[in-house]
Amino acid sequence: MKISASFLSSKNIPKDLEKLNDTDVDYIHVDFMDGKFVSRKTMPFREMRHVSDYTSKRLDVHLMVDEPSKYIPLFAELNAEYITFHVEVEEDIVEDLQMIKDYSIKCGLAIKPDTKVSSLVPYLPYLDLILVMSVEPGEGGQEFIMESEKKIEEVRDLIRSYHVDAIISVDGGINDQNISLCRDADMVAVGSYLIHSDNFQEKISSLR
Ligand code: DX5
Ligand code: ZN
Repeated sequence: MKISASFLSSKNIPKDLEKLNDTDVDYIHVDFMDGKFVSRKTMPFREMRHVSDYTSKRLDVHLMVDEPSKYIPLFAELNAEYITFHVEVEEDIVEDLQMIKDYSIKCGLAIKPDTKVSSLVPYLPYLDLILVMSVEPGEGGQEFIMESEKKIEEVRDLIRSYHVDAIISVDGGINDQNISLCRDADMVAVGSYLIHSDNFQEKISSLR
């Protein structure tokens, strides 16, 4: 199981990113919010870009924005392995996925808890990652939605039946108690459970 660390709830981002460099965490999960797609707004890109100054890990970018096309070129400048945006956006999704691929970055689509898995079908051939949200996007520290277990299974079935080469990632409220519900996933994004601990490696190991 790959682990992607979210620093959304961090009180000291540079320090926590540096501490994560000394762990075997696989990616840094960068949550970016525009105050439109979700009500909260994270720091602007000109500040967010400095994440790269503190981490030696590759980035797994999660765009919670109305207009991914505005932000893809910015995040493409960073050391991103994945850029993911939401299937619920109004923009031309195929065009945006193609834009990510044109930067030789892997592309992902995220799906909110109330969105049907079938909404992913038209985009399956383009996807490297499917991000199943196990909380409503917008805040760290929420409780894992139990129905996500079934949703992950549904996505796994979809991937199998369409012979797609995408990984499944799960994001929101994940800890050592509910990680077993994510067994059909390849990766999990973990925030509060990690960041609010004094021993990052111990928490990471408890999830693998
Ligand atoms: C929620 C974010 C998540 C979240 C993860 O909108 O996309 O990445 O911060 O943090 P926890 O693990 O605290 O839910
Ligand atoms: Zn996220």
